[in-house]
Amino acid sequence: MTTYEMQQEIIRLKKEKNICILVHAYQTHDIWEVADYIGDSFGLTQQAAKSDADTVIMCGVQFMAETVKMLSPQKRVLLSAPDAGCPMAEQMDRIMIRQMREMMPDYKVVAYINTTAELKTVCDVCVTSSSAVKIIRALPYDKILFIPDCNLGSWVKQQVPEKEIKLLQGGCPTHARITEQEAQKAKALHPDALLLVHPECRPEVTALADYAGSTTGIMDYAKKSDAKEFIIGTENSIVQHLQFACPEKRFYPLSKDCICHNMRLTTLGDVYDCVCGRGGKEIVMDDKLIADARHCIDEMLAYGG
Ligand code: 13P
Ligand code: SF4
Repeated sequence: MTTYEMQQEIIRLKKEKNICILVHAYQTHDIWEVADYIGDSFGLTQQAAKSDADTVIMCGVQFMAETVKMLSPQKRVLLSAPDAGCPMAEQMDRIMIRQMREMMPDYKVVAYINTTAELKTVCDVCVTSSSAVKIIRALPYDKILFIPDCNLGSWVKQQVPEKEIKLLQGGCPTHARITEQEAQKAKALHPDALLLVHPECRPEVTALADYAGSTTGIMDYAKKSDAKEFIIGTENSIVQHLQFACPEKRFYPLSKDCICHNMRLTTLGDVYDCVCGRGGKEIVMDDKLIADARHCIDEMLAYGG
């Protein structure tokens, strides 16, 4: 089977079986081409709440599939690559956050959506990189414990100085790998290029950027900009997607190492197996876990929509 034949078969089967394929922007281009929706974590969450499909295939990582299941418990939700987890989502657990809450009773806990459903049960509201600033500004409380990503947290803190935001030491190992020296080197190599980064990067890298935002934010910025060259400081898949979207512009990866091995696990063959009914991991969550964890997501959609 060629790539094209497999894509055609996926498109035929998903229509026949009323399947919706949600694709995070970090997936490969062959998977983008069979998607019903491609976007960042916030956009995927909004789509999950809207979809009227019987089955949803999430091409991304575990917490994204859990979010879909929480918003649509009656649907069959499949994670395309069963082992695709986000290491950041596993960094903190319920016991630790409960203890923090006891130590800081005046603080509300704001969780990056890259957390397990279990952890969400002890948090007050979720945010994503594209919605964090808007939501935190709008929240009716001023004392916030932001978990788990301290890089995203300090980026938010800078933009919302009126709130007291405490951080813990967690974060994305893929983005945290990028150093200030790499950013300086890339800028020296491409002096006319704008530097666009994800706020999961370290603060000293984000400080050098012309723009910081979510995956969708970075892509929109590059498409609309009059500039012709861009250094991309997020998962390197975005370099290729932007090169397709804007063939007249040039895109350079900020770091050769900005590769998320979990996001890269899904292949087109996995998606094909899912639509054929023999692949993926079905997300199963009990009603209590869904009820306890969903509150955070509902709050996020209410404040960030
Ligand atoms: P966004 O899709 O919200 O930009 O987040 C990037 C990411 O690392 C998702 O795991
Ligand atoms: Fe998690 Fe980072 Fe990979 Fe996103 S890029 S899934 S935050 S490890």
